[in-house]
Amino acid sequence: MAEVDKTRGDVDVPGDWAYASAPESRDIVHIRDRYGYFVGGKWLEPSETYETIAPRDEEPLAAVGQGTAAEVRRAVAAAREAYADGWSSLPGSERAKYLFRIARLLQERSREFAVLESLNGGKPIKESRDVDLPLAAAHFFYYAGWADKLEYAFPNRHPRPVGVAGQIIPWNFPLLMLAWKVAPALACGNTVVLKPAETTPLTALLFCEVLRQAELPPGVVNIVTGDGSTGAALVESEDVDKIAFTGSTEVGKEIQRRLAGTGKKLTLELGGKAANIVFDDCALDQAVEGIVNGIYFNQGHVCCAGSRLFVQESIYEPLVAKLERRLSTLRVGDPLDKNTDVGAINSAAQLERIEELVASGVEEGAEIYQPPCVLPEKGYWFAPTVFTNVAQSYRIAQEEIFGPVLSVLTFRTPEEALEKANNTPYGLSAGVWTEKGSRILWMAQRLRAGVVWANTFNRFDPTSPFGGYKESGFGREGGLHGLEPYLRFDE
Ligand code: NAI
Ligand code: MG
Repeated sequence: MAEVDKTRGDVDVPGDWAYASAPESRDIVHIRDRYGYFVGGKWLEPSETYETIAPRDEEPLAAVGQGTAAEVRRAVAAAREAYADGWSSLPGSERAKYLFRIARLLQERSREFAVLESLNGGKPIKESRDVDLPLAAAHFFYYAGWADKLEYAFPNRHPRPVGVAGQIIPWNFPLLMLAWKVAPALACGNTVVLKPAETTPLTALLFCEVLRQAELPPGVVNIVTGDGSTGAALVESEDVDKIAFTGSTEVGKEIQRRLAGTGKKLTLELGGKAANIVFDDCALDQAVEGIVNGIYFNQGHVCCAGSRLFVQESIYEPLVAKLERRLSTLRVGDPLDKNTDVGAINSAAQLERIEELVASGVEEGAEIYQPPCVLPEKGYWFAPTVFTNVAQSYRIAQEEIFGPVLSVLTFRTPEEALEKANNTPYGLSAGVWTEKGSRILWMAQRLRAGVVWANTFNRFDPTSPFGGYKESGFGREGGLHGLEPYLRFDE
């Protein structure tokens, strides 16, 4: 567990003031030894499997199917059958009932889902419990509300479902990304084949039990696990009408190339390198909390993470001092401990990527700060990190690290902040910290980012659309906008 030295700074606090461990019991979760695919409402035996593990200690959790192209085709066929066999022509008010049921079941079983999410993915239990699960349920509630109001959402445009949606999701918010994808698809009358990320399949597989409890008609949602090749097979399935993808820009580009000329609909939610911009008139302590939440939340495995901090030069020193002090109080350790702030890195591959980029930052000349903390021996861990003395050209200022690593840069004027913030191939999110309302609006209008947060960061709500510009992708999820990719219009 993290043993943080609390004597840093000028306040004398005894160094041995540690939190007692407060582990969440995992008894509530039953993990099977082996999982197949959920196809046509039944479990289909996989021809190949792989082991999914807990990143906190590399404990094997279950054998999970490694979906082949033939298995993906079966799932797509089941989705097509369910689509033609009634789901697409069901009145919206009937579809809504299923979505409401799913939402309520997620709420009822939220502790179970939260524990499983933290176990399989490594995120702190307080985040899966207080953020992922409530938001996942909220998305189903929200889209349940739209199911019978599509004609009002898009007046005179005659909205109709698209057909079978192939959905590919990442490992940073496994159940939440499932909810973002499945809820609007079903609300609009589509059926779904979803492929979870290879490192985090377990909450999606538990979700199949919820679908059964909700008595969702067989084949409306099908889940096939596996790695990138399974995802590629889904993209290439002829009978899929729409692909929704969240993940790396590299794979997003590849999918776009594959789908070019096929007429299939596509939405891409890709990487980011968000600017979090702090002006000298802001509430400094509040900003520090926002910066910490912006980059250390979920170990920085967040596409909209505030990974580039721009600080107005006049407050640079006090802000960095406060930030480093705050960092030394973050508790890094067991994701299932209720006191943990920063959990395990999701996978060995991701840890390697983070380590490589951090090494490049040191190499290029940035100054690194990591608070003293003892990392567990087993599993995948990375200490919260701040880089100062960062130049725009450094890789750590340009590339998505997707880890608990912040790069601090400075600016003098709003124009300079804007220029530097927009100097990125990405455009997913941004943050502005200032007391001046007019400055917030001035910045928000000029920042090339899908979401701009003012005096807060990483705030989510199902009513609010989310998505990017440039290499962060296209299409919006959430809100009224999030319905559109799942509809066709007679125009
Ligand atoms: P990835 O893009 O390879 O994986 C995301 C999902 O796409 C997974 O379900 C994966 O199985 C699937 N996939 C992989 N190759 C595919 C293909 N050719 N066709 C269809 N589906 C495919 O991301 P990865 O390798 O896990 O992470 C690499 C980097 O990507 C991270 O370091 C991070 O910078 C970024 N990333 C961004 C995410 C976001 O939310 N925007 C989420 C995950 C990763
Ligand atoms: Mg990859």
